[in-house]
Amino acid sequence: MVTRPSEDLRIVLLGEEHDRGSFNCGVESLDRYLKMQAGQDVCMKANAVFILSEVSEPTHVLGYYTLCAMAISQGDVPEAARKHVPRYPLVSATLIGRLAVAKERQGQRLGAVLLADALQRAFDSAGTVGSSMVMVDRLDETAAGFYAAHGFLQLPDSLRLVLPMRMASGSTER
Ligand SMILES: CC(C)(COP(=O)(O)OP(=O)(O)OC[C@H]1O[C@@H](n2cnc3c(N)ncnc32)[C@H](O)[C@@H]1OP(=O)(O)O)[C@@H](O)C(=O)NCCC(=O)NCCS
Repeated sequence: MVTRPSEDLRIVLLGEEHDRGSFNCGVESLDRYLKMQAGQDVCMKANAVFILSEVSEPTHVLGYYTLCAMAISQGDVPEAARKHVPRYPLVSATLIGRLAVAKERQGQRLGAVLLADALQRAFDSAGTVGSSMVMVDRLDETAAGFYAAHGFLQLPDSLRLVLPMRMASGSTER
């Protein structure tokens, strides 16, 4: 399935212009992160934060996601993904730590647009700083369904799901 943002959507790095205060995705911790923590994370290079908005209303936040560098133990790599990753004790990875869409715009494929953008950015960055897997942190079973529908594999006894980086590009044409 190919997901492309419409002409009226843009995804850019978090900036001063974005109105973070009114963002509401229905999950308090994700709203609070954007309001209270995201700016500091960007300053300290702890996370890159990307904001989805409409070109015609660029300050209004429709959704966001975060990316950072991570590693996963070889023993935690799911069997189905092993042939796609190197056999180092620690496998390099890119973490989509948070991904959220404003409540009033959920179910309109904006989550798919954000995920496609995150995967493409992770794939492109891995060409400069190697990363063999994409990881996501889910909050609950609902979010797990969203990621599983996009090909992610669940790690046992964990809130994490993974996708081999090699498989991140094909599903994310923009
Ligand atoms: C999870 C979330 C990001 C999904 O965004 P969305 O814009 O509502 O989802 P989309 O409309 O883009 O759906 C894209 C696809 O995923 C599927 N999907 C969406 N939510 C799903 C769910 N909970 N379970 C299974 N599939 C789901 C859709 O059916 C659609 O499938 P299709 O391509 O076959 O039509 C959004 O509901 C959200 O922000 N929730 C609160 C925060 C959260 O839980 N974030 C994730 C963990 S950090």
